[in-house]
Amino acid sequence: MDVKPRPHPHAIMISVPYQGHINPFVNLALKLASKGFSITFVHIEFVHHTLSKAHHNNKNEVDFFSQARESGLDIRYTTINDGFPVEFDRVIHFEEYWESILRDFPARVDEFIEKTIKSDPFSAHFIVADTSYSWPATIAKKYNLVNVSFWTQPALVFSLIYHLDLLRENGHCPCKDNIDEEINYLPGVESLSTKDIMPYLKESESKTIVYTALSTSFQLVKNADFILHNTIQELEPTTLSSLNKKQPNYAIGPINFSKIYLTTTITKSLWSESNCENWLDSKPPNSVLYVSFGSLVQTNKQVIEEIARGLLLSEVNFVWVVRAGIVGSYDSDVLPDGFIDEVKEKGLIVPWCDQITVLSSPAVGGFLTHCGWNSVLESMWCGVPMICYPVTFDQPTNRKLVVDDWKIGVNLCDDGLTLLVDRFKVAEKVRSFMCGSDENMGLKEGIKKVREVLHGAMEIGGSSEGNFDKFVDDLRGKIY
Ligand code: UDX
Repeated sequence: MDVKPRPHPHAIMISVPYQGHINPFVNLALKLASKGFSITFVHIEFVHHTLSKAHHNNKNEVDFFSQARESGLDIRYTTINDGFPVEFDRVIHFEEYWESILRDFPARVDEFIEKTIKSDPFSAHFIVADTSYSWPATIAKKYNLVNVSFWTQPALVFSLIYHLDLLRENGHCPCKDNIDEEINYLPGVESLSTKDIMPYLKESESKTIVYTALSTSFQLVKNADFILHNTIQELEPTTLSSLNKKQPNYAIGPINFSKIYLTTTITKSLWSESNCENWLDSKPPNSVLYVSFGSLVQTNKQVIEEIARGLLLSEVNFVWVVRAGIVGSYDSDVLPDGFIDEVKEKGLIVPWCDQITVLSSPAVGGFLTHCGWNSVLESMWCGVPMICYPVTFDQPTNRKLVVDDWKIGVNLCDDGLTLLVDRFKVAEKVRSFMCGSDENMGLKEGIKKVREVLHGAMEIGGSSEGNFDKFVDDLRGKIY
């Protein structure tokens, strides 16, 4: 690691080691560096190892930010150990991993920060950590650092967890599993149904590690000096302005599309990306459905089979990302027997791709998505309407925003939340969605407008750019 003294305010940034968090964090690091901050970007060792394996022939000494430094940005790169071997599967053993992250990781971060501060004559001024972590408030206080919390999901999801006390008072946390009651008492949040809140707030998941981790971290986020949101002011205005009354909150999204990202390439994809461009170039405009369930969701072979058969029956062209481990194991025969042969030129099945490049192709006319927040933002940015199949975490709540509020997507299943899918319904939905039904025409209008909002927000003078500049001013004011 380069150890030149740093003349600028210096941040230490630590992301959660999952793709949906790494992407916005890396882009935030670039953006902060482009505003004249010095950054020490910290990947968990396993992320470093996985990136090296996927892109650099296992070369362990790779510095993923060297190219950014060549472009004049002051970013150093380093790693931290989370107490598990690099081979440990942090997706399949999610619960065990997060128990340790809650229990043991804070001491490791403490030791790391102490060492970093001691070795740097200019020391550190602030930390930027994922809101999902429980340690930032304590560490920031101990080392006298400004505490910047970065929330990578919608403000609605943030607000629901931020107001757990109100949900508890109203008998909605834990919330009975299958009830449909109105939540109309959260500040800045329009009424929503209990069926649309995150599954970890419901009785059946109330003892899970996700609930424990987030309820702990959201107690502590109330001590953060600044909270950054990867969302857009125009899309969640009342939720954000209400949060702003309590603490300084800034909507700076979609950070994955900031200008600096568009001009600086940083390796951050945990898997190597298959090329889909040639195949897409051979297809007519708007004829291809892109299908992906992100980096974390696990499902079962039955669901995969119904989706596979449904796609074939629909006769629509598709690119489908079937990630290794998607069924909770690394079986190689995830797809139904004979499926690949039957698909022929109708479909392209890949283990991983450059999603933004695929969504940007004129051939792509729809996205069957699990509603991970990055996928939603990327689809909106590229103007691609969605078919929603939310599975877990924030995804059911994100679905509500996409389908019910912004009207830029439809549900795969009638109620939008059923996990068991049926091949005939999948085929019918995909066909009518892709073949210009009236409903789809409405979605196209809607997505065009939302796309403009997102692009406008990231322009100079746009809301997210303006919020970012305001954050930078406020942060400098707090540091000096
Ligand atoms: C996780 C949670 O599951 C999600 O609910 C939360 O909102 C964010 O963290 P993940 O499931 O991976 O994320 O979904 P998503 O947020 O959509 O992030 C996936 C990222 O991987 C996107 O930025 C997407 O561009 C990228 N991706 C996905 C690829 O680059 N290639 C692929 O083939 C698939």
